[in-house]
Amino acid sequence: MTPQPGTPVLSLRDVGVRYRGGDGAMVEALAGVTLDLMAGEMVGIFGPSGCGKTTLLMAAGLLERPTSGAVQLAGIPAAAVATEAALRDFRRRHIGFVFQKPNLIPVLTAAENVALAMVIDGVPAAEAERRAIALLAALEAAHRAGNRPASLSGGEQQRVAVARALANDPVLVLADEPTAALDSRRGRQVMEVLRSIARERHAAVAVVTHDPRSIDLFDRILEMDDGRIVAERRPGAQA
Ligand SMILES: Nc1ncnc2c1ncn2[C@@H]1O[C@H](COP(=O)(O)OP(=O)(O)OP(=O)(O)O)[C@@H](O)[C@H]1O
Ligand SMILES: [Mg+2]
Repeated sequence: MTPQPGTPVLSLRDVGVRYRGGDGAMVEALAGVTLDLMAGEMVGIFGPSGCGKTTLLMAAGLLERPTSGAVQLAGIPAAAVATEAALRDFRRRHIGFVFQKPNLIPVLTAAENVALAMVIDGVPAAEAERRAIALLAALEAAHRAGNRPASLSGGEQQRVAVARALANDPVLVLADEPTAALDSRRGRQVMEVLRSIARERHAAVAVVTHDPRSIDLFDRILEMDDGRIVAERRPGAQA
């Protein structure tokens, strides 16, 4: 699936997510979000803790079935992907996730962690490893390719997780604070790699971040509050 630049990769229509909180009361984590992410664009999502940023990524990434509204990825309604197994397969093929925590598989090396999804998809092992090393190199982590996660620093683990998210050439990349564990130079490098995936592969990239230092790399910035998108601006444009 190669998206055409300027066409929507992801469409959310009035998406709501409600959770039952610990006290039994319902929490409206997403209160009706409508959003299109276009092929080739990188969007930053900002907002206070608890405003629904992670929930938005979970709904967009088909990890959370919304309570209301509709999600469409590359023209396919998520509701039409019927079983959990089919949904998992759909995600693995089309979506790259970078979570707040790296969640690498401890018994696999960095390169094996990156290569795994490719191997599952039938890419020959040697080719998968070559691509894994190339992705790690783009993130300045190739020298750690043979190490297991336990012997990597937090920032190195996070860069491996970014490489893993990009391995299957996803049309949609969703990253939740991917630079929180990184110094500013490496944080910027991760953001630049994500942006190059948008530009070169025409993927849509959404990044939740609190980090104002990479604002100039975003095509659009969405501000969230209280489960909604409350403002949208283009960096450089008047707020
Ligand atoms: N599984 C869950 N069960 C119940 N409530 C939840 C669940 N997940 C999130 N919430 C609630 O939904 C709201 C939105 O949470 P979310 O994790 O999306 O916020 P966030 O913007 O990502 O915050 P942070 O910046 O702290 O990561 C919060 O009030 C949170 O407590
Ligand atoms: Mg969050």
